[in-house]
Amino acid sequence: MSTSFFINGIERSVDVDPSKPLLWVIREQLSLSGTKFGCGIGQCGACTVHLDGQAIRSCLTPISSVEGKEVTTIEGLSSASGELHPVQQAWVEHQVPQCGYCQSGQIMAASALLARSPQPTDGEIDSALRGNICRCGMYGRIRTAIKSVDVANTDEELFYNVAEVDHV
Ligand code: FES
Ligand code: FES
Repeated sequence: MSTSFFINGIERSVDVDPSKPLLWVIREQLSLSGTKFGCGIGQCGACTVHLDGQAIRSCLTPISSVEGKEVTTIEGLSSASGELHPVQQAWVEHQVPQCGYCQSGQIMAASALLARSPQPTDGEIDSALRGNICRCGMYGRIRTAIKSVDVANTDEELFYNVAEVDHV
């Protein structure tokens, strides 16, 4: 069965079992390897992507449920000209990653949070990223990096994937 959706702004159709998780379509059919497999049961957050601007677990999302929707992966977060998303810039500045395995999921969760809450409290950060596990324990740097992002003075285009949905 064919499912059509937008991935990083480009419309794609895939002919796979409708129950196939979005994670595996992203990695196998679309060859986008930035989204990681961790647990496969919604417990680690490594597979986090945006679906219509919301952070979701792609390992638990059947491909049939994304018909006609907008999926953004870590590969689609930077601008068309290659400029890093402000969250990615903050990650570099604060040297957040250690092994890096969890980081695309962390960044996707953080960017969705900042798009709806530009100055999140510690509680909001903890709540939004509670399900994103970092075995290297970089939670302090993640929080510092999120708080350093100056959303108000950022080109709104860089939050396009979330902003578009908010404006519908
Ligand atoms: S791989 Fe999806 S939550 Fe762990
Ligand atoms: S940086 Fe290694 S698991 Fe998070």
